[in-house]
Amino acid sequence: MTTTSKSEKHAQVRREVERLAAESRSTDDLMRGITVLLNEHMLKYNWVGFYMLEQGADPPILVLGHYQGAMTPHTRIPLNQGICGAAASSGKTVVVDDVSKDPRYLACSLETKSEIVVPIFVHGKVAGELDLDSHFHAAFGSEDRELIEFCARIVGNRLANETGN
Ligand code: SME
Repeated sequence: MTTTSKSEKHAQVRREVERLAAESRSTDDLMRGITVLLNEHMLKYNWVGFYMLEQGADPPILVLGHYQGAMTPHTRIPLNQGICGAAASSGKTVVVDDVSKDPRYLACSLETKSEIVVPIFVHGKVAGELDLDSHFHAAFGSEDRELIEFCARIVGNRLANETGN
């Protein structure tokens, strides 16, 4: 039996994401593929999904896109609600090691213990985010954060190319 260290696993998944980005025909395929890949390859990534800002909505609202994991009641999230709203409105990655201790948290599943939300930038502006939940406390360490931020950058760059300059 071979053992794979945590870093090797992250590097492996990063290469898979690069391959997916090179092979996927549309941003939509790429986003769906990323949710599948992260959910299947990383044991602690129990829910993986994209929320994108609805174009032209005033006030702005995040709309659920591709996801893997349990169905969530939160399909539309205003920017003043939830960890998702906090990440999109601040433009900063939010990591919550214990969701039960964060008053902003909007519950998706009773099993969720920790969460990370990474904004996606297009031409320097937040266009959406990549949200992950785990059934384990403090599941998202620095290597996870780097991997998930890498995925968010790949999607942002692809969207930027689609929308021209
Ligand atoms: N927990 C998120 C809501 C989305 S679900 O996790 C899928 C939040 O607090 O914004």
